[in-house]
Amino acid sequence: MNRRGANSYWLASIAMQVAIAVTIGGCSEKGRPMTTLAPKSDLAQWIQSLYIDVTVWDAIILAIVVGAFILAVFVFSSRVGEAAPASTASSDLGLEIAWTLGPTLVLLMISVPTIRTIFRSQPAVAPKNALEIKVVAHQWWWEFDYPDGVKTGNELHIPVNRPIRLSLESADIIHSFWVPQLGGKRDVVPGQINELTFVATVPGMYPGQCAEFCGLSHANMRFRTFVDTPDDFVKWESDQLAIPTPPTDQLASEGAKVFADSPCTTCHMIQGISKGYIGPDLTHFGSRTTLAAGVLQNTPENVAKWIENPQEIKPGANMPALLLPGPKLNALVAYLEILK
Ligand code: CUA
Repeated sequence: MNRRGANSYWLASIAMQVAIAVTIGGCSEKGRPMTTLAPKSDLAQWIQSLYIDVTVWDAIILAIVVGAFILAVFVFSSRVGEAAPASTASSDLGLEIAWTLGPTLVLLMISVPTIRTIFRSQPAVAPKNALEIKVVAHQWWWEFDYPDGVKTGNELHIPVNRPIRLSLESADIIHSFWVPQLGGKRDVVPGQINELTFVATVPGMYPGQCAEFCGLSHANMRFRTFVDTPDDFVKWESDQLAIPTPPTDQLASEGAKVFADSPCTTCHMIQGISKGYIGPDLTHFGSRTTLAAGVLQNTPENVAKWIENPQEIKPGANMPALLLPGPKLNALVAYLEILK
């Protein structure tokens, strides 16, 4: 490469590194809630700290290697007409020891904090006072079962600053539980219980996503985690424990009849009305912000769209199209939405 070519090469390389730095710096939380760079739990913070430590070590090593390379190119290279410098590498014991010890040290600097973080993030027993929640992954939705009997679908509520212990189970094939801002992915494997332990430190809503390819609607297997203040969590839990009062509104009352006479009851539970367990528990459906595993906002229009043709929204979903005539569909939607 001539000098001009070398200069362009270096300029291009620097421009690319600046572009990468700007891109990573630009992955801020705002508008990018699936980021792993804005930790909101102890577990996510440990992973972030490890990531930064390793990146800093890598940057120092990169600077040393590139510096040595530049030095070798510009200071120790032979000039036109000069003989090549003599090599001492094969006979210098000091050099041999240096380049064996150097990489060993580098590997230790990376592996020791990594292994420490792995053990720290996977305690064998649940911490004292932990809220233990069973998570069941289904094709393609998430079930959350609380110790006091509360069951939700696709929306997990947890209190801030209290240890959370999730027991992850699968109803069918391998999935992976992942809330980027609350910690690393954990596989959900049939016939096995995996645990995920963390303390969420900032109230807010953090989206999650299945992170293991699990079939046609893998990308539609989303969920939301709400980190509530202790008071909000107690209120949410008591609301979820209450049996919904029968509708007083005429349209919703008709909807309750449509539900009770429909095949919905085979798959869905509404406390006091139906006992299905194949699909999500709908007892407090109206209190959720989304439907169809986080794919749509929970609005009457979207609920109607979903009931009319689930396959269009979530290909492969087990729920069949109900083919209800318009008035019955409207009544059913009205009923589902009052189940707060
Ligand atoms: Cu479940 Cu991908």
